[in-house]
Amino acid sequence: MRSLIDILDFTTAELDELIATANDIIENPAKYSEKCKGKKLATLFFEPSTRTRLSFEAAMLELGGSVLGFSEANSSSAAKGESVADTAKTISCYADIIAMRHPKEGAPLVAAQNASIPVINAGDGGHNHPTQTLADLLTINREKGGFNNLTVGFCGDLKFGRTVHSLITALSRYEGINVVLISPDELKLPSYVKKDILEKNNIPYKQTTDLESVIPELDILYMTRVQRERFFNEEDYLRLKDSYVLEPKKLKNAKKDLCIMHPLPRVNEISVAVDDDPRACYFKQVLNGKFIRMALILKLLEEAKR
Ligand code: CP
Repeated sequence: MRSLIDILDFTTAELDELIATANDIIENPAKYSEKCKGKKLATLFFEPSTRTRLSFEAAMLELGGSVLGFSEANSSSAAKGESVADTAKTISCYADIIAMRHPKEGAPLVAAQNASIPVINAGDGGHNHPTQTLADLLTINREKGGFNNLTVGFCGDLKFGRTVHSLITALSRYEGINVVLISPDELKLPSYVKKDILEKNNIPYKQTTDLESVIPELDILYMTRVQRERFFNEEDYLRLKDSYVLEPKKLKNAKKDLCIMHPLPRVNEISVAVDDDPRACYFKQVLNGKFIRMALILKLLEEAKR
């Protein structure tokens, strides 16, 4: 049974195919409005979410299907001690496809190993968030026309930011990618991502704490929030939370066609005054997230038939 747990589960050809389908959905929504008639998506969210859960639900509804699920662990039998494996076996009796978010790294993989229906990782701890990466790739493709020869700056919490880990992994398969890592020392990209992804794929990268000095080089600036929920103590969070605040004046030396991205939610790291800048792409990412999740649901349900 085909699932999506890690962005590398899909080849670059499959990612291209998903992007093409999402673009076709954007152009011809009516063509897709009954594609999932009679099918059910279960959203199993053991951690809070606005965009991922509701975009999955909107995606399935716009494909003519139905949705069921829960939005917090306490309203499921996990609160009584049920395992992820048993939950996955149970939901396989009720639904055709699962989207799961869980605070424990690897929980969606365990679900996929025990379910008899496709499982989509909707974010596991500080590890991966492959469907946010699909939304990011669709956005980059639509804004930049492709993925090659881009200098991409990742700024903020690169340690716990699972969207950063997944997007770096995805971009490492394209030609001419340069990565600039901008973070406080305490929130640097984990060494396993540097070694296993960037160095293994010979992707040039540099690390800095100074956002303004590197802004002029960037084609894409991917801002992230400091992930309060992953800190062991509040003091460290409070000290680091406002390390970077993107304001209009900091963009004065940026490229005219810079693409400013953020997986959202935003806390304080992008001033709302930046929202009116034509280079702000983060709400486009939100909308693209729904279309690419429609394409993903279609692909996995189609493969499950075989
Ligand atoms: N980007 C993202 O995962 O947002 P949510 O936490 O609101 O789902």
